[in-house]
Amino acid sequence: MKQAMILPPATIGILGGGQLGMYLALAAKQFGYKVVVLEPDPLCPAKRAADIHICKKYDDQKALEELAQHADVITTEFENVPASTVDYLNQFKPVYPQANSLLIAQNRGKEKSFFRSCGLLTAGFVLISHIQDCHNVKTEMFPAILKTTTMGYDGKGQVKVMQASQLEDAYIQLAHPECILEKMVSLQHEVSVIVARNQTGSNTFPVIENHHRNGILDISYIPAAIAPELIIQAEQAAHLLAEKLDYIGLLTIEFFITTDGKLLVNEIAPRPHNSGHITLDTSLTSQFEQQLRAVCGLNLGSTVLKKNGAMLNLLGDVWLDPALNPFEIMINEHPDTKLYLYGKTQAKSGRKMGHLNICNDSRKKLEEQIKQLKNSLKIDDL
Ligand SMILES: Nc1ncnc2c1ncn2[C@@H]1O[C@H](COP(=O)(O)OP(=O)(O)O)[C@@H](O)[C@H]1O
Ligand SMILES: [Mg+2]
Repeated sequence: MKQAMILPPATIGILGGGQLGMYLALAAKQFGYKVVVLEPDPLCPAKRAADIHICKKYDDQKALEELAQHADVITTEFENVPASTVDYLNQFKPVYPQANSLLIAQNRGKEKSFFRSCGLLTAGFVLISHIQDCHNVKTEMFPAILKTTTMGYDGKGQVKVMQASQLEDAYIQLAHPECILEKMVSLQHEVSVIVARNQTGSNTFPVIENHHRNGILDISYIPAAIAPELIIQAEQAAHLLAEKLDYIGLLTIEFFITTDGKLLVNEIAPRPHNSGHITLDTSLTSQFEQQLRAVCGLNLGSTVLKKNGAMLNLLGDVWLDPALNPFEIMINEHPDTKLYLYGKTQAKSGRKMGHLNICNDSRKKLEEQIKQLKNSLKIDDL
């Protein structure tokens, strides 16, 4: 891999303008870089931290030329950037990660086949691309989850299918030409590993333990409370996947740990990850600074933990209760937490509005604090 070193005050181009782009832009600013963001939403969080916001679509050729003119290197915070966009930009400026990795991460079928080709385990799966396929699935696949192969996130584009007779209805309900049917696995834990890789080498953050609520990430703990051999396996798998993709940038791998102790790869995100927000406070280098270092060809920062920590996601639901003033509660009642809000003007159920980070070396204390936070913000513990 041949990569140019991009030094400040160069300009970092970011495809996508969500909160991940906002924190990447802030990390870039901290190092003295300038930032240009391409994102069609005029109210996007990242524009608040960027020098330039090009408010155009990802397939707008003029906008891409403008982005390439300003930027010295381009990266992404959003995995559904069309591969053709990346290929077009690549004629002018380096883009990391490259289109091959995006194409895999954008399609659950390609993703799972890629994991297996690397010798890693996944949940059992079968592709459903025609109604006829619904009738050829073995009964041992059930209970299962039918997922659209593309565009799904936060549990969207998924339906549980308890038995074979329900599959056809589920496929019709999803109304998506290509779906993947995954055998439901019995989960002991869900964990993520964030790996960075560039010409200088690769490293991982400590394994993060994730707890979901209604298919959306709710709480993350770093480090994960799992067996040491699983930690080694997860880290090795992360390095292997980054290497097989010849990846440059930051890559997140989501894993399932089954009740019988197996590590299965679930999916990858070619970008920083919601679970990695905790690194803003627990780690010498945050996931965003690491992405910046990776795409600029700089030495990667230390991922050593200063403190153990936990993150609680703040979804729009918290703002929808008229009897609650979440900002006042967080500021006045929880001075020992670090509050992050993304500046989104409209709260919607399930929309990620911000998060809270807490640091403590005692896992028991972290769990107690999360419980108190949830109580005062009236977030049900499911
Ligand atoms: N095969 C499965 N077995 C058990 N639980 C699953 C399975 N697939 C998904 N889930 C649950 O649903 C959540 C969201 O699914 P995921 O495949 O990660 O899609 P998304 O892109 O929406 O995050 C997972 O974090 C996990 O809790
Ligand atoms: Mg997921």
